Amino acid sequence: MEKSKTGLIVALDVDNLSKAEEFIDLLYPEVEIFKIGSQLFTLYGPEVVKMVHKKGAKVFLDLKFHDIPNTVANAAIAATRLNVFMFNVHAQGGLEMMKRTKEAAEVEANKLGAKPPLIIGVTVLTSTSENSTIKPLVATLTEDVDKAGLDGVVASVKEAGFIRSNFGSKFIIVTPGIRLKNATNDDQKRIATPLDAVEAGANYIVVGRPILNSSKPKETAKLILAQLN
Ligand code: C5P
Repeated sequence: MEKSKTGLIVALDVDNLSKAEEFIDLLYPEVEIFKIGSQLFTLYGPEVVKMVHKKGAKVFLDLKFHDIPNTVANAAIAATRLNVFMFNVHAQGGLEMMKRTKEAAEVEANKLGAKPPLIIGVTVLTSTSENSTIKPLVATLTEDVDKAGLDGVVASVKEAGFIRSNFGSKFIIVTPGIRLKNATNDDQKRIATPLDAVEAGANYIVVGRPILNSSKPKETAKLILAQLN
């Protein structure tokens, strides 16, 4: 399958390790990055990260760290030791927290002779309803993420165009809330199609339920990959 510039990350939002493994067996290598969120990580911890790595795939550790700077910096060291490809923190945790997180991950990666994980700031969750206060809040928080030297943000497709034009081509934009046309929205309030995400300049889209709940997950993933191309 042809590689697109916008990558697909599949959210492994399932409640057991063998289900997660089945999805990876089905979707890898077409899908190279899998997101491990609080559900699976709470149940299995580093074991699930190791399982994904063993399959040859990469991990986006989506634990949305939000705590005092010292605690999040220590969590960043732990994520770096797990050799994840990407992890995220809540931008509302503040500039100092984000700076220290970035620095801690870099120092740890240097010690290990490894590449530091990409660190992504979460601005406003995509389940938040659209209202006039979201855009300025996203803009301010994205500025903090950029100032702290993090690699990019999680944002809805609606915000991605604005972020791309204001924060340059190197800033990574990860967009969840993706739905194929005619699909249900689940609890995502700010949704868009894969093509909308490409056009808005997203580097990665995160897709969970549209693939996990599909009667043909592999076909659905292929359809999404085709749209990304
Ligand atoms: O099932 P669905 O495609 O809506 O999954 C979206 C995934 O992206 C979920 O795992 C959710 O936790 C995550 N996410 C999100 N909004 C954010 C950050 C992460 O929906 N701002």
